Amino acid sequence: MKSHITNYIRAGYPGIYLVSCEEARVEAEMKAIAKAVEYQLFGWSVTDGLVDIKDGHARTAQDPLEALEAIGELSENSIVLLKDFHQFLEDANPVLVRRVKDTLRVGKTKGKVLVMLGCRFALPPELIREWVTVDFALPGKDELGVVLDNIAKSATLAKPEGDDRELLLDAASGLTSVEAENAFALSVVESARLCPQVVAREKASEVKKGGLLEVYAQPATLNEIGGLELLKDWLLKRRDAFGQEAKAYGLPAPKGLLIVGIPGTGKSLTAKATASVFQRPLLKLDAGRLFAGLVGQSESNLRAVIATVEAIAPCVLWIDELEKGFSGSRSSAGTDGGTSARVLGSFLSWLQDRKAPVFVVATANDVTQLPPELLRKGRFDELFFVDLPNQEEREAIWGIQIAKYGRAKQNFDIVQLARTTEGLTGSEIEQVFIDALHEAFSQRTEPTDLSIAMRLGEMVPLSKLMSEQVDGLRKWARGRARRATVAESEKQGRKITA
Ligand SMILES: Nc1ncnc2c1ncn2[C@@H]1O[C@H](COP(=O)(O)OP(=O)(O)OP(=O)(O)O)[C@@H](O)[C@H]1O
Ligand SMILES: [Mg+2]
Repeated sequence: MKSHITNYIRAGYPGIYLVSCEEARVEAEMKAIAKAVEYQLFGWSVTDGLVDIKDGHARTAQDPLEALEAIGELSENSIVLLKDFHQFLEDANPVLVRRVKDTLRVGKTKGKVLVMLGCRFALPPELIREWVTVDFALPGKDELGVVLDNIAKSATLAKPEGDDRELLLDAASGLTSVEAENAFALSVVESARLCPQVVAREKASEVKKGGLLEVYAQPATLNEIGGLELLKDWLLKRRDAFGQEAKAYGLPAPKGLLIVGIPGTGKSLTAKATASVFQRPLLKLDAGRLFAGLVGQSESNLRAVIATVEAIAPCVLWIDELEKGFSGSRSSAGTDGGTSARVLGSFLSWLQDRKAPVFVVATANDVTQLPPELLRKGRFDELFFVDLPNQEEREAIWGIQIAKYGRAKQNFDIVQLARTTEGLTGSEIEQVFIDALHEAFSQRTEPTDLSIAMRLGEMVPLSKLMSEQVDGLRKWARGRARRATVAESEKQGRKITA
């Protein structure tokens, strides 16, 4: 990143837009860059005006127009770091926009570089092409290590080493330097030591503030899933694929998995369990909200999400109900000036080209809503289809659900229960059992096979209610998606007659 900015300056780019919320870090980095390219560094903010960063000498030019004028008078080879300047451009004051353009034009020949610094990318259309955008990545482990050592020193604690250090840095990755410093300090105050759990908890709440990502603290395990053997196998074969050994072997890091299927069949559950298989943090992305809000904001939202996810990598990124996020992208040109389509484009290129070890697991019910380009090979390693559970799977699901609610399997005829619940999804089986528990509790007894059977008589399974959609989905999946389960018909042995 540093070399990127340095190269842009050396190549004579007059406008660089840095997207970052870390003013102090950016300022420190810009000082180093200015020194390397032998430029003089100035800062501007509406409160301080134009300030020579080296000697603190200020010229009063708090007004943005005056500031541009003052910049015009600076000597050649100067860099000006503009804080919050984009906010003055948002309502596109024509005089200011013109002035910015003029300043950039002159800057190009005089070696004057404007560096706009903002938390998000926001510019009027007239100016977008005038700036090159650089996403200022979140601090890496080396930088976080310096923050950690400083806190340890000021709390007179031993410098964390070895595994402890790794755990603390893993917990802090994805935070800004200031946030990491706060989290380390809070850990010292709360527990008189540097504790990764406290840092991880703070990170979870910081990440959630953005409103799009969530650190999922309690992922599921594969043992909680009944059936889906082929899907589980596929995951287990890749369990060590993010490790050092796999890297040395030359294995490419797995990219991700798309799971489509009937509602309530355990897609989200499997997505959650993926993180336990890889033993990596689980981040959940709200794809629907990625598109909400102002036009232009979606793009910066996506950038922010990618920055955080890549900083936390290796990790698992879970996108639930993918179709909700991307269904609008088709009609996008007519409804939102193409924003959704553009964001989808950026997301797809990230899916395809990302270097960071991020395993993306996405789930979807309604494949007809998904843009076809999302399904193309290379975006995900595999596309799995989850059908209604077969007899064997229903037996496993009954076993899991009964145990989950603290009851003993032996008290029920699992095989029979599975037979009578043909056509039900895992989620419906769970619901039937919960209903039976309520019923039994109201009479202060325990549920039985019979009381469960009575509950069944009262419900219409989704597969009946939506039989057309279910058939449609099955038809779609044939030949397109891998099955999550071996079909019962394929399981039977070959019949050979002599
Ligand atoms: N195969 C399964 N094994 C065990 N439990 C299951 C299974 N499938 C579903 N369940 C139960 O049903 C609940 C809901 O399942 P889940 O949310 O994973 O379904 P889904 O396929 O994501 O549905 P939707 O498409 O509606 O989002 C799970 O939390 C779990 O308790
Ligand atoms: Mg789901």
